Amino acid sequence: MKTLKFAVLPGDYIGPEVMTVALDVLKAATEPAGLTLDYTEAHVGGAGIDNEGKALPESTIKVCEEADAILFGSIGGPKWENLPPAEQPERAALLPIRKHFSLFANLRPGLLYKELTDASPLKTERIPEGIDMVCVRELTGGIYFGPKRTETLPDGDIQATDEMVYKKSEIERILDVAIATARSRNNKICSVDKANVLTTSVLWRKTAIEYVAKHAPEIELTHMYVDNAAMQMARDPNQFDVIVTENMFGDIISDEMGIVCGSLGMLSSASLGTGKNKYDLPFGLYEPSGGTAPDIAGKGIANPCAQILSAALMLRHSFGEEEIAQKIEKAVKQAVMDGFRTGDISFGKPSIGTKEMAQAIIDRL
Ligand code: IPM
Ligand code: MN
Repeated sequence: MKTLKFAVLPGDYIGPEVMTVALDVLKAATEPAGLTLDYTEAHVGGAGIDNEGKALPESTIKVCEEADAILFGSIGGPKWENLPPAEQPERAALLPIRKHFSLFANLRPGLLYKELTDASPLKTERIPEGIDMVCVRELTGGIYFGPKRTETLPDGDIQATDEMVYKKSEIERILDVAIATARSRNNKICSVDKANVLTTSVLWRKTAIEYVAKHAPEIELTHMYVDNAAMQMARDPNQFDVIVTENMFGDIISDEMGIVCGSLGMLSSASLGTGKNKYDLPFGLYEPSGGTAPDIAGKGIANPCAQILSAALMLRHSFGEEEIAQKIEKAVKQAVMDGFRTGDISFGKPSIGTKEMAQAIIDRL
């Protein structure tokens, strides 16, 4: 009997609400296949600060180290906004956890069902069939993790510096993930850079051209400057299949993708590491894209779909359970198609709560 051992880090505000029901769905989906869930909960973000004095307590890291994957909720919110920036949940937990586990590959599926096109600011005319693309973002390099300093200049002015740094090997390993992703879809990659200005982008583009030609000649590789990519995303997102890009460009482009896909409540993500778990699969962190939504926390109305779909990604990438992952993804889609909607995707029509939405999904597994 296979046991799935993972860490559960619910986090703050709606985090625990959607996590609870995502675990119910996960249990209902895996039990019939003879799988057992063995998960340990730990504090992270504001919950880490309130309970253990810091956003990423050592005890939480330990729980994660002993697991084969991390199912993450969302962290941060007004309660901790007045702390010094370096101690705030996002910076003091998310970035260090990415670095600690070398979670270099961030996969963000941009998926908008045909039935929900009205939720997109692009409206149905431009995306009659919905949207289906993936953003592959490099997550442990670039300007986020390069040298940083603030200094006073001889003339008394103050200067701050963040350096953007990339090694060829870092670009190649994220290309590998993009290639694997493209192969499971339509064999198309658009590499997004700023090679008309940045040295790191010149290396990025050259490496992409050489690496794809050598290792995946069947892939159709195109290149786009990031400013143009931002524009194209708002004009016609379906021209993209897989986007691969560096850390900060990916941060921005994936948020734009999030909004053109309608509700953040539907968007999942996977951050895969260099480390392998006991199944020889990537150790990964799986989290919804939507954030903690403090305004609706505690009301039981948050959309649990993104958390549930993130759990499906965990089954796929870290546990090799493709069939069950697809079963969950189909059940979420079917529930939405059958008209079960939380407030964020109900377009003013009657809506249901977090628990009811999860039950509708369980009923369709
Ligand atoms: C994200 C977030 C983080 C990032 C922040 C909270 C540090 O915006 O996961 O996209 O910039 O990577
Ligand atoms: Mn972001």
